[in-house]
Amino acid sequence: MALKGILEDKDRIFTNLYGFHDWGLEGAKQRGAWNSTKDILSFGRDWIITNVKNSGLRGRGGAGFSTGLKWSFMPKEVKDRPHYLVVNADESEPGTCKDREIMRHDPHLLIEGCLIASFAMQAHAAYIYLRGEYVHERERLEAAVKQAYEAKLIGKDNIHGWDFDVFVHHGGGAYICGEETALLESLEGKKGQPRLKPPFPAGAGLYGCPTTVNNVESIAVVGTILRRGAEWFTSFGAPNNAGTKLFCISGHVERPCNVEEAMSIPFRKLIDDHCGGIRGGWGNLKAVIPGGSSVPMITAEQCEDLPMDFDSLRALGSGLGTAAVIVMDKSTDVIKAIARLSYFYKHESCGQCTPCREGTGWMWRVMERMVKGDADPKEIDTLLEVTKQVEGHTICALGDAAAWPIQGLIRHFRHEIEDRITLYRSTKSNFAGHSIAAE
Ligand SMILES: Cc1cc2nc3c(=O)[nH]c(=O)nc-3n(C[C@H](O)[C@H](O)[C@H](O)COP(=O)(O)O)c2cc1C
Ligand code: SF4
Repeated sequence: MALKGILEDKDRIFTNLYGFHDWGLEGAKQRGAWNSTKDILSFGRDWIITNVKNSGLRGRGGAGFSTGLKWSFMPKEVKDRPHYLVVNADESEPGTCKDREIMRHDPHLLIEGCLIASFAMQAHAAYIYLRGEYVHERERLEAAVKQAYEAKLIGKDNIHGWDFDVFVHHGGGAYICGEETALLESLEGKKGQPRLKPPFPAGAGLYGCPTTVNNVESIAVVGTILRRGAEWFTSFGAPNNAGTKLFCISGHVERPCNVEEAMSIPFRKLIDDHCGGIRGGWGNLKAVIPGGSSVPMITAEQCEDLPMDFDSLRALGSGLGTAAVIVMDKSTDVIKAIARLSYFYKHESCGQCTPCREGTGWMWRVMERMVKGDADPKEIDTLLEVTKQVEGHTICALGDAAAWPIQGLIRHFRHEIEDRITLYRSTKSNFAGHSIAAE
């Protein structure tokens, strides 16, 4: 079925995204996976890393760091410690549901990508760390790994000439275990708490050995990029924002969906062509969280013509993140929506650092009062100030993730918070004022 939009079917990497075809080895091979993998490896590590760099692929796990560049940080020679690839399949960012579709419907693209990436970084083992709730995805992935072993595509003395094992590891279901160093701790059997960096995983990662952590989508696209060429990949998207990308669109659209599209597709085209438009029409759009719950929201006015990519969203003070697009129409109580996210971050904080442990709870409690309007208008600035004290002052980026949604709310919808406070006060006879609580 040809979808509208920018990307043509012939240029899709995930041709079984919706699971209409055979997920198994035969189906995967027919769709292109495992084709000429040996040839790719025969070009050598430098060729692979250079081409992944040239393709412009930026990490699909949220931060958008160049994948090829990250691989090049691994030691050039294996010395006393083995090298590892770790695939981040924790996918816990609210709104994000793309990696699970890869693992359910196109698992061989991921396994093949693991082999190629591991070969390029001289790793003989890859660990795929799945979020706790992904039981079906784990079963499917394990079945595909078994097929790959049986067909001697991986394992000892495999047909590709690079001994290579894949281990599927099931996490316990904590959001923080998606942070790469917390993930490594958890993989080692410890409590999933982020490590201080440096050292970075390329220097000392899993079991203290050189390790690269990449998102599922980042790894699963590599085989196709190298088969079709870096230039093919850069032919999509704006400069520095290359490629095709899985978007997860939820919320107040007519038909929420996952879709692979060309990077930099204008927001309106993405929504009209793939989701049947905004519920109630474009005039009913209020705000959008464009990249998963961690990124600040943008307003309806900002997004219609907006290219959906890393740099355009960054220029607006937001981010592409995981490309989980959460659409909110005018029926949305945006204060309540952000308060709910604040609760999430408070709940998921690992508690290691004070600004995050104390700040997430404080921000959530204040947000709950803002929902009711039971606050002093001066507290809006106090709240903003606290988000700035949390942002950038913590071991990992969960602190930023807790601060940014509130900053986005205040930036764009301060008037709604103020109106809510005015309304609340008007309903209280003999209102004596609210002193700023220490919470
Ligand atoms: C709190 C937190 C949660 C994260 N969760 C995920 C996740 O579920 N999946 C993921 O790929 N990256 C997640 N990340 C980002 C990872 O730390 C890491 O940057 C990413 O796996 C690198 O892969 P990439 O370079 O391919 O994007 C998270 C980061 C933070 C701070
Ligand atoms: S920022 Fe929060 S989640 Fe991250 S290490 Fe500190 S306390 Fe833990």
